[in-house]
Amino acid sequence: MENERESWNRRYRGGSHGSLEPDPFLLLAYENYVQPLFSRPGTALDVAGGLGRHAIWLARRNWRVTLMDVSEVGLAKAREGAGRVADQIEFVRADMKEFNAGRRRYDLVLVFFYLERKIFPELMKALRPGGVLIYKTYTREQRKFKGGPSHPLHLLKENELLKAFSRLRVLYYSETIRDRGVAEFVGRKFGAAP
Ligand SMILES: C[S@@+](CC[C@H](N)C(=O)[O-])C[C@H]1O[C@@H](n2cnc3c(N)ncnc32)[C@H](O)[C@@H]1O
Repeated sequence: MENERESWNRRYRGGSHGSLEPDPFLLLAYENYVQPLFSRPGTALDVAGGLGRHAIWLARRNWRVTLMDVSEVGLAKAREGAGRVADQIEFVRADMKEFNAGRRRYDLVLVFFYLERKIFPELMKALRPGGVLIYKTYTREQRKFKGGPSHPLHLLKENELLKAFSRLRVLYYSETIRDRGVAEFVGRKFGAAP
């Protein structure tokens, strides 16, 4: 059976997910929560960041970003797409299923359209006190609509992010039920301001 790495390498070679346009939710979260909280750009981790549309957007705003993804083809394209800001991005090929935060801490952790429940505690750990988690992915509601994953493993349950990250101060939470089923979450780790 083709594994995730091969399958995403094949998709990226075929030109899939080619746009470097950031998700509108990153823009909303950045404007309403990140900018007011951070007087200057800091460090960010983009989990399963693919072609780097968010890592590049942040790097252009002077953030230092670690972009992790299982696909080396995606990462190579991300480096190419980053152009002059490539040296502000650390490109790391990693299987996020095995993610261990170790001692690294980030001001910002982003997860867009990737779900691996067993790493939720490591994502919490990876946040510095005062750090912000921005998470957006599909919910079970998406099964009513076209596109997106269909397996429950890849779909959030109702309120799941709220429960999983209940130790964060929730700054924003929403679930859509029309046209598309996605959950959007912004939470801040308690503790000293960054
Ligand atoms: C739907 S794409 C989302 C990419 C990016 N977050 C975005 O929103 O543009 C899912 C990404 O997850 C990555 N991925 C899938 N399984 C992975 C794993 N086990 N470890 C790391 N990355 C993985 C894929 O390579 C792909 O880039």
